[in-house]
Amino acid sequence: MATIQTVGVLGCGLMGRGIAQICAAAGYRTFVLEAEQKFLDKGLGEVDKQLAKAVEKGKLTAEQKAATMGNLKGTLFADDLKDCDLIIEAIIENRETKREMYAKLDAIVKKEAIFATNTSSLTVADLMTATGRIDKFIGLHFFNPVPVMKLVEIVKTITTSDETVAAAQEFAKKTGKTSVLAKDKTGFIVNRLLVPYILDAIVALEQGFGSIKDIDEAMKLGCGYPMGPLTLLDFVGLDTTLYIADIMFDEFKEKRFAPPSLLKRMVMAGYLGRKAGKGFYDYSNPEAPIANDYLVK
Ligand code: CAA
Repeated sequence: MATIQTVGVLGCGLMGRGIAQICAAAGYRTFVLEAEQKFLDKGLGEVDKQLAKAVEKGKLTAEQKAATMGNLKGTLFADDLKDCDLIIEAIIENRETKREMYAKLDAIVKKEAIFATNTSSLTVADLMTATGRIDKFIGLHFFNPVPVMKLVEIVKTITTSDETVAAAQEFAKKTGKTSVLAKDKTGFIVNRLLVPYILDAIVALEQGFGSIKDIDEAMKLGCGYPMGPLTLLDFVGLDTTLYIADIMFDEFKEKRFAPPSLLKRMVMAGYLGRKAGKGFYDYSNPEAPIANDYLVK
């Protein structure tokens, strides 16, 4: 089985930086590729901040933080990734952009390297055909926030080799994640079940089953979920959810994946969730979000 020592992460956004952080913390030499220096500065700055918080809380030593940061190298040059053993792509969720990126990296990175995608909704087989390594291509779907969420879905296409799956499982274990094996079916396991649930919470709100706060409180305290569904929607991003729902509806043509009209209208109006400062809640004071009850009045 191929031994992974060096990892290349494509993209230093929310998911990319989280993935880079856990790779570096696990002892992998980690390169993070971005298009502009300002994205690297922002993403790696966030990693530094998260690790500093952990040191403050006594969960990490200053030496461990320094070792993790020492393993992380931001770059604007794809050539720096040529000797990586594993490439994990976490760039914008757009088929054409991802395929272009894979084709470019395929020509640069050594032939034995494994290529992985963190896509949550695109078909892994469709991305892998942009490369010449269809036996060494796999899905590695992480969850937000990556350093906290314990799961990674390992997605095997019809051509992924058993050796590649085994290497991905070993990698997941080394980064402290529990892996599950999912088929290359749109949404994999988690979004197949999560997306209908969060969309249905919007429908329940539209139908007047309860207020924003009460729907969230009900599922949080009644089912023991860490966040209510509308808070989770704000956390994931309403635009991201709409994008995933559209792809899943297109694939399965099932009503359970159809985006509710309120979701579409909120995205049109810029209510994208926490990152935009407003979604189902207003985050003017992030410590004490206020429900935007007027959305359904
Ligand atoms: N990055 C790193 N660490 C973070 C973090 C972040 N963004 N947010 C919180 N944490 C850490 C905190 O530092 C804290 O660490 P310690 O326990 O070591 O002190 C820990 O997480 C708990 O945080 P808090 O006490 O602030 O708050 P919490 O207990 O409410 O936990 C949460 C926050 C982990 C986000 C929790 O609410 C949760 O699990 N929510 C559900 C998240 C979820 O469902 N994610 C999946 C979304 S779906 C997806 O990602 C895939 C897709 O395809 C759409």
